[in-house]
Amino acid sequence: MAVDTGNTKWVVACATDDIDEEDVLRFDHEGASYAVYRLAKGFHASDGWCTHEQAHLADGFVVNGEIECPLHQGRFDIVSGKPLSPPVCVKLQTYPVRVDGHNVLIGLPATAVTDVAKDAS
Ligand code: FES
Repeated sequence: MAVDTGNTKWVVACATDDIDEEDVLRFDHEGASYAVYRLAKGFHASDGWCTHEQAHLADGFVVNGEIECPLHQGRFDIVSGKPLSPPVCVKLQTYPVRVDGHNVLIGLPATAVTDVAKDAS
């Protein structure tokens, strides 16, 4: 399910109880892949793929508000996407998240789908 509000497309990524606290879940949508996190203070979302090489962050580990990549153990701040330790040095794209009942929605730029389609061609 998706709801458009201006330039943001809100998409249901999962149910609130699909993710344990201090954990991460993969969410694929229209050719793109995301990581949805549950921390003590709420839910967050980012691009799924590490900015270093091809590893999915949903296969990594959440520790103290950071996601550790499973391939080379680079770490990002989950809330800001800021790279925290080598070899990662490029910021991770993050997305707004809201909870509606039992659903976790991530806010994607309305142009993201077009961009993904262009990249795939
Ligand atoms: Fe993530 Fe290298 S692929 S740190």
